[in-house]
Amino acid sequence: HELDLNLEAIEKGGYEHFMLKEIFEQPNSIADCMRGRLKANEGKLVLGGIHEYANALTNAQRIVIVACGTSWHAGLVAEYIIEDFCRIPVEVEYASEFRYRNPIINEGDIVIAISQSGETADTLAALELAKSKGAIILGVVNAVGSSISRITHEGAYLHAGPEIGVASTKAFTAQLTVLIMMALRIAHRKGTITESKYHELLVELESIPAKIKKALDVNDQIKEISARFKDARNFIYLGRGYNFPVALEGALKLKEISYIHAEGYPAAEMKHGPIALIDEEMPVVFIATRDSSYEKVVSNIQEVKARKGKVIAIVTEGEETINQIADFVIEVPHTSEALMPLVSVIPLQLLSYHIAVMRGCNVDQPRNLAKSVTVE
Ligand code: G6P
Repeated sequence: HELDLNLEAIEKGGYEHFMLKEIFEQPNSIADCMRGRLKANEGKLVLGGIHEYANALTNAQRIVIVACGTSWHAGLVAEYIIEDFCRIPVEVEYASEFRYRNPIINEGDIVIAISQSGETADTLAALELAKSKGAIILGVVNAVGSSISRITHEGAYLHAGPEIGVASTKAFTAQLTVLIMMALRIAHRKGTITESKYHELLVELESIPAKIKKALDVNDQIKEISARFKDARNFIYLGRGYNFPVALEGALKLKEISYIHAEGYPAAEMKHGPIALIDEEMPVVFIATRDSSYEKVVSNIQEVKARKGKVIAIVTEGEETINQIADFVIEVPHTSEALMPLVSVIPLQLLSYHIAVMRGCNVDQPRNLAKSVTVE
């Protein structure tokens, strides 16, 4: 027994929980994910696992992404990236809905499954259905040799290493990294991205591990904010554009491990419902980094403050305006708009972690949840 405990302590590498270890591992796990695939100074970007179907992807009329949970959020970010850079229409589906609604799948359609475990029953079944209708099925999977990786035609592994905490953290950022690399490859082959933008993004992607490392510096500040809000009964998370799926992911993390009800919303949709919930008790987390929707997000923050909500804003380093309005600001390094979710999600992972610890919750094994859901 003592031996088991010691082994576990070693596995946690000095961290109190696997989740915290995995959050802090992200600069390395993303570097591992890019290793051998990306060399910005040589203009090199290869995904060995997607070779035979590279042309099919480039010429696709439509891409369908199927996933569940956090992986579905990664799919939403991918939708923005693929449509933005590759100009291919993308649909992101909950695997459980897709498989039961007589979906339209044509011969040669591309269906991409995103799954950390590679074993999620609904995702697997959605793929089997698509395959039976003649679709090309690809996987973005972490677990090597898993069921999904075995039935897909081709795919790209995350190489993020095992993820033990039930709440997915490093798998999410590795999924984003693979999907971004995939999108950039397609866009470059298709010519839907300029050479200079392509190279700029390769360089920027390579700098992400260092930027995540910097983003992790806010850990102590987040602990203080967590202490202030740990007894809240509800939270709202708002973001726009590339940061909208990050709002969903932030809310999911909080629900999963701290059992606080949280809703993620596109910031502009707030006025169609959630704004009614805002009073002086309501913490509202804004992802308000400097991007094309920045000004609009600033006015959304003002709307919340006018109703006395408590605003916690994730902002870009050097921000000056939001500091005057928000109750708390958390700075993250600047990066390209499309890559921002990789950085902006970090403080949200930490926030949910610290709140859960302060509430005495079982962070690594939250009640009622499983790491891999092999039943429907
Ligand atoms: C479970 C896990 C989540 C995960 C989801 C999808 O709900 O608790 O962390 O995002 O399944 O899992 P997958 O392995 O397919 O990514």
